[in-house]
Amino acid sequence: MANAPGPTGREAIRLLPRLRENPLTYISWLTRTYGDLVRVPLPRGNQLLLTSRPDLVAQVLVSNQDNYAKARTYQPLTELLGRGLLTNEGDSWTRQRRLVQPMFARRRIDAFAPAMVDAACQAMDRWAELDTGSVVDVAEEMSALTLDVVGRALFSSDLSGEAQRMGPALETVLTAFIKVVRNPLFMLVPNYHRWPTPNRLRARGAETHLRTVVDTLITQRRTEAAGAGDERDLLDMLLAARDDTGRPLAEQQIRDELMTFMLAGHETTANALAWTLLLLSRHPQARDRLEAEVDTVLSGRPATASDASKLEWTSAVLSEGMRLYPPAWMIEREAKAVDELDGVEVPAHSVVATPPYLVHRNPDHWPNPEGFDPERFLPDAVAGRHRFAYLPFGGGRRQCIGGGFAMLESVLLLATIVQRFQLDLVPGHQPETLTAVTLRPANGIPMALRPR
Ligand code: HEM
Repeated sequence: MANAPGPTGREAIRLLPRLRENPLTYISWLTRTYGDLVRVPLPRGNQLLLTSRPDLVAQVLVSNQDNYAKARTYQPLTELLGRGLLTNEGDSWTRQRRLVQPMFARRRIDAFAPAMVDAACQAMDRWAELDTGSVVDVAEEMSALTLDVVGRALFSSDLSGEAQRMGPALETVLTAFIKVVRNPLFMLVPNYHRWPTPNRLRARGAETHLRTVVDTLITQRRTEAAGAGDERDLLDMLLAARDDTGRPLAEQQIRDELMTFMLAGHETTANALAWTLLLLSRHPQARDRLEAEVDTVLSGRPATASDASKLEWTSAVLSEGMRLYPPAWMIEREAKAVDELDGVEVPAHSVVATPPYLVHRNPDHWPNPEGFDPERFLPDAVAGRHRFAYLPFGGGRRQCIGGGFAMLESVLLLATIVQRFQLDLVPGHQPETLTAVTLRPANGIPMALRPR
């Protein structure tokens, strides 16, 4: 079987600094140079196959998904997330996903809408106290806002306490993660992510803090909940969940799951909103249309869950924002056994990377791929496209469990922001991308506020 084109082993080593500096530029360059299926030799005789083709993405994530496990890159996250849904594998993952899935049913998600809008209104009230033209860092603001939302959804009233201090601790863990996976030793040494480097020790401190906070919240809730009725939030739902044999979840599992939702559910949505606000300030026509839609649908009142389906342009704008800046910019799998991708051999243990960032800019599927055009996401335009030309939430059985939650949240938050403010990027500032776990702004997105 043929090999896919790509750099030689020596070239790949020479290119390593490029990969570490800016993975997005590197993977885009590889694709431009070698095509939409590229082979990159890795240390110890291993290899990476990089593809931006929707049909091959579908094979890896869906039709032959049994042959693909999550890649090693996820390993450092298991230190914090344990056997939570994002990092777990095998039968235990299957059981867990079956238990948790009903918590993300439409009806349950819609019930979080008032908390989402309430959090956004509070943030807008804070902005309203600033003078017109004041500058806020939208990256930081969206991060705080979505942490507030996920905190309310997970712990509701408990948020006003410890949970607010979790932001900086999560930040420390994520920063440490990226340092580990970018270190060449990570590819060479099996348990490098556990070495007691200063970076690891810092992360361990933050992890311990996060675990203590979550444990306290669980214990408090167990005491309160004795004999209580309704399930107010995800913590209540996790406490009430029972497996096929009627057993409740183990304490450790509840904690891992809460931690996972906290991490997976906050930065991703924050980045989707921050990049979208940036794009809107560069595309005033799309913004005018957005303001007109929000004003018509909401008529000045707070948004509700039932408005979301009417906010068609708002949703298209966000989808286009996530096409250009997919928060989960990379998805990686490891082949369990040999496979074949369009005549190219995939040996066992190869890493197959299907980065949404590249797939979303594949010119065979997206005319003018670099251009911002929300029309692509109006219903008629979506109909003719390959299902896997767009995968912000992944695909197959490991696809994002929080996709519905995230879309509802981002539509309601964006509508609430646009209803009250117009934001413009501070002239001369060039936001840059940072590929951490998510695709985030490296140097902030400072924007001037103008009340509407
Ligand atoms: C714009 C926001 C979001 C984006 C772009 C996003 C993206 C993704 C992607 C691409 C995956 C699959 C990763 C893979 O296959 O390797 C994933 C998994 C996951 N996401 Fe999200 N996510 C978002 C919001 C959320 C929210 C709000 C939650 C929870 C409240 C959440 C919880 C999870 C969990 C638990 C998994 C693991 C699912 C499993 O493997 O069973 N995500 N997410």
